[in-house]
Amino acid sequence: MSAQHDTVLVVDFGAQYAQLIARRVREARVYSEIVPRTMPLDEMLAKRPRGIIFSGGPASVHVDGAPSIDPTVYDAGVPILGICYGAQLIAQQLGGNVERTGGGEYGRTSTNTTTAYVQGGRRPVLLPNAPNELQVWMSHGDAITSAPEGFDVVRSSTGAPIAHFEDAKRGLFGVQFHPEVVHTSKGQELLRDFLFKVCDCRPSWTNTNIIDEAVAEIRELVGHERVICGLSGGVDSAVAAALVHRAIGDQLTCVFVDTGLLRLGEADQVEETFRRQFHVDLEHVKAADRFLEALAGVTEPEAKRKVIGETFIRVFEEVASDRSDTRFLVQGTLYPDIVESGGGDNATIKSHHNVGGLPDDMKFELVEPLRNLFKDEVRAIGEELGLPEEIVWRQPFPGPGLAVRIIGEITPDRLETLRAADHIVVEEIQRAGLYRDIWQSFAVLPAEVQTVGVMGDGRTYENPIIVRAVTSEDAMTADWARLPDDLLERIASRIINEVAGVNRVAYDITSKPPGTIEWE
Ligand code: XMP
Repeated sequence: MSAQHDTVLVVDFGAQYAQLIARRVREARVYSEIVPRTMPLDEMLAKRPRGIIFSGGPASVHVDGAPSIDPTVYDAGVPILGICYGAQLIAQQLGGNVERTGGGEYGRTSTNTTTAYVQGGRRPVLLPNAPNELQVWMSHGDAITSAPEGFDVVRSSTGAPIAHFEDAKRGLFGVQFHPEVVHTSKGQELLRDFLFKVCDCRPSWTNTNIIDEAVAEIRELVGHERVICGLSGGVDSAVAAALVHRAIGDQLTCVFVDTGLLRLGEADQVEETFRRQFHVDLEHVKAADRFLEALAGVTEPEAKRKVIGETFIRVFEEVASDRSDTRFLVQGTLYPDIVESGGGDNATIKSHHNVGGLPDDMKFELVEPLRNLFKDEVRAIGEELGLPEEIVWRQPFPGPGLAVRIIGEITPDRLETLRAADHIVVEEIQRAGLYRDIWQSFAVLPAEVQTVGVMGDGRTYENPIIVRAVTSEDAMTADWARLPDDLLERIASRIINEVAGVNRVAYDITSKPPGTIEWE
């Protein structure tokens, strides 16, 4: 993919930072790829990068075995921007000083241009027109206290004597602060200056180009063979399917296994979109009874997941065995999955059993058209491909579906209750304009719990519903959403009035950690 685009490499010194930097570079329409810092330099240079960004990271350059990089990178003639730890590494490797000064800075911090720039009337290459005082986002314990030879010091803060330094001749730049974070004013502008003024990149990474290239690649890979794609109702598999369909049309068959554990209207939405709008050959397997039967008597959360996973695989295998002429299987793998499972310092592989995860012995070759994309890019191209908002912007949903949101055994009645309550939560949050800002919002039914209430003149003894809404960046951590009181009130009164069998609503105010997002 990179061959057709100017590429900027982000060298990863701590994953959570590197991904955000790469996303910001791509927002500037420049293709960016994350590489582990252990990649040999000649391999990095073989990617012909126009620029290299060193990410931040949690280590100190002083600890034994601190992440480092082959210092001949500075002589490769490729411009480099070091961010936070990356800037400290540049300073240290080129003969400057990095010290633990005791003046660490965390959060919003004010920086000022140094006298040479204020009084000397000089302008830096990055942010030449920024005001003298600039608010940035810092997160550092160590600080660069002297710059290597050849570098000019542009900015400093109380805790970072060298917060921004440049050697314009050699194309080397460093900032102690985080330009990739929205709280840094002019952060994106700084990155753009590096990309366009220093590296001379072309902004060619556009949605249209991404789609065109993916289409060409799929055609080349697949030829005239047949392809199968499992749809879950979620955004990733939907966009993957839409892309593959654009590439090879009716060589594609989509299989949608309706487990009966989906949200209200979800199955119809998939039918409507793929069969009626896109005219995709769609096999809608209505397997709710089969899943319910398999789940009878099962209450333990992991057991539920196992039963659902196995049933799903069996159903999918049956469909696939009728199609022995099919050679390829589409998977909606995203770039973060690939980066995260790539080893190195941050090998945090998510261990969630995904219901869409099929066994390796299924003898398909994989088509993974989203493997270079971040979630926000997937959404943007989904919109461009004409997928409806309900699919493109749908919040994440666990593979085992509503089964892990009914605490206790799964029965048709309980599913109906939960589905109705869940729909009210989603609808009210959408009406309040908060749906896209919230990572997940849903209802949970503790089916074995009954509570006493009064309604009209009578005593009730029915189930409560728990409402859960969280904000998050990546589901690894999450905070409970501070929903407005009047919104919570509307949700509660609608659920009690409209959903039979529910007489109480509670709001879950647990963050992750220590809680998890789902209840099971
Ligand atoms: P937890 O509950 O662990 O969830 O905080 C983190 C994210 O993963 C989703 N989730 C699952 N997804 N299969 C999935 O495909 C599962 O078994 C599963 N369990 C949780 C959850 O909705 C949240 O987005």
